[in-house]
Amino acid sequence: MNLKALIADRLAAGFARAGAGDAPAAVGPATRAEFGDYQANGAMGAAKRLGLGPRELAQRVIDGTDFAGIAARCAVTGPGFISLTVADELLADALADRRIQPLPAAKVVMDYSSPNLAKEMQVHHLRSTIIGDAIARVLEALGCEVIRQNHVGDWGAQFGRLVAHLNDCGEDAVHLADLERFYTQASARVDEDPAFAARARRVVVDLHTGDAATLARWRRYIDVSLAHCQAVYEALGVSLRPSDVRGESAYNGDLAAVVADLAAKGLITESDGALCVFLDEFKGKDGSTVPVIVRKSDGAYLYHSTDLAALRYRAETLGADRVLYIVDARQSLHFRQLFALAKAAGYGAGVSFEHHPFGTMLGADGRPFKTRRGGGTRLLDLLDEATVRAGRLVQAKNPTLDAATTDRVARALGVGAVKYADLSKNRTSDYVFSWDDMLSLEGNTAPYLQYAYARIQSLFAKAGIPVEAAEPPLGPLATAEEHALALQLARFQETLEQVAATVMPHHLCSYLYDLAAAFMRFYERCPVLDSDLRNSRLLLSRRSAETLATGLGLLGIDTVDRM
Ligand code: ARG
Repeated sequence: MNLKALIADRLAAGFARAGAGDAPAAVGPATRAEFGDYQANGAMGAAKRLGLGPRELAQRVIDGTDFAGIAARCAVTGPGFISLTVADELLADALADRRIQPLPAAKVVMDYSSPNLAKEMQVHHLRSTIIGDAIARVLEALGCEVIRQNHVGDWGAQFGRLVAHLNDCGEDAVHLADLERFYTQASARVDEDPAFAARARRVVVDLHTGDAATLARWRRYIDVSLAHCQAVYEALGVSLRPSDVRGESAYNGDLAAVVADLAAKGLITESDGALCVFLDEFKGKDGSTVPVIVRKSDGAYLYHSTDLAALRYRAETLGADRVLYIVDARQSLHFRQLFALAKAAGYGAGVSFEHHPFGTMLGADGRPFKTRRGGGTRLLDLLDEATVRAGRLVQAKNPTLDAATTDRVARALGVGAVKYADLSKNRTSDYVFSWDDMLSLEGNTAPYLQYAYARIQSLFAKAGIPVEAAEPPLGPLATAEEHALALQLARFQETLEQVAATVMPHHLCSYLYDLAAAFMRFYERCPVLDSDLRNSRLLLSRRSAETLATGLGLLGIDTVDRM
């Protein structure tokens, strides 16, 4: 149940009766605890138009609202806020059924991860991959149909070098373990050997015009490269599958048609043999329009053209309602141009195309992050280092755990810490990667949440009952800590909806952190096992564990029973 929406709904009727039917109630969590649980600020904006004081209007809204079953208290506070305390019976209802309510059916295409193939995945591929994965899981939990599109870069000039090098080396020259070395060799040859560089350029033309032998060589290389990506996805625990890959090459056959569509709309201008689109939205400083080039003078298509073909496919063939691009902030101009091109071409009217950018992961020196091992940027090295460090933490904390459990817990903690550290930051800014911060058992970290979860498991172990044995109904909420915990639990649905709307995973992280903190406060203040309220308090504990596990699961992070 979405508490916030429920309250907004009731208040809307109150606003209407007070003569302010068109004003939004503007409901949000209370900014100060003494204001109750939620506050609505809508009277502040609407009062002036009605010639009333904000507090006066707020009171009229309260008088006209039916709070039965929803609020225990409601009052005007501050300059004209409507503050309310949620009724315990509503919290009991919310906790009786922990199922997530689906949103209206929608098909969402998600473009994320989308690395350029040819070499191993690097640290800078992390953010798109895990942010996209978390969002995809949240949308699915809310009942959306999510179509993942891993728009890998598999068609660029680097494949000319690789295939030319492969030609020189003979058949099955590349194996997974050789990927990085092979790429380095091929790149070095381009710099050293002009004849090789010329052959490499010819291969690109052969590739794009469909030469069978070249395509076969290319395919072999791509398969190895994709197998590597899949291994990284599995190590990361993200939900991308080989069948989600639809790379740039998939659109090769559509490019001419897309450019023809632009031409038919009269949008193409030829300039020195290149085909350009001039859009009014993109004026330079001097007022002249900056062109988007869709085909170069040598006939080659560009990143824009491929993306336009992909956009058309997503809107028209896949039938998307929303298309989310989880891509580095440095590509913001590209996406503004892409969406403007699509609009001009008449593709995807009514579809919401959204670029959701993110900043860079930085090292302590303020420069893009490098791993300690070898000072490189291989993503697999990063995950290995995370596991090693988490293993030390687990051993120090719990030396009696057997080796297999220690390894499993270390993996969950280490990979979880890396992902959570990223997901918990507002994605639009850069952030500094810090092992010490992310592996701390205190503060807004994955280990802190995993620890809270494990603690609840040991509470049930001590009680000698399975977690599922604590069943509704919720008893009376005797203390402020119980009310606060129940309220936080009941806010899960609205948090997920907020994440879906904003495409911001950090809202879910903050929610889980507040939940764990509310649980810890409850657990310190309220005896559970030898209390008259034992069942109700066990139910609060059970729901806390379930919500932590579900929430972390949506972020792609595992929980462990002991750590
Ligand atoms: N392969 C691109 C890169 O590594 C990212 C692709 C993002 N998706 C897209 N449809 N342009 O920069």
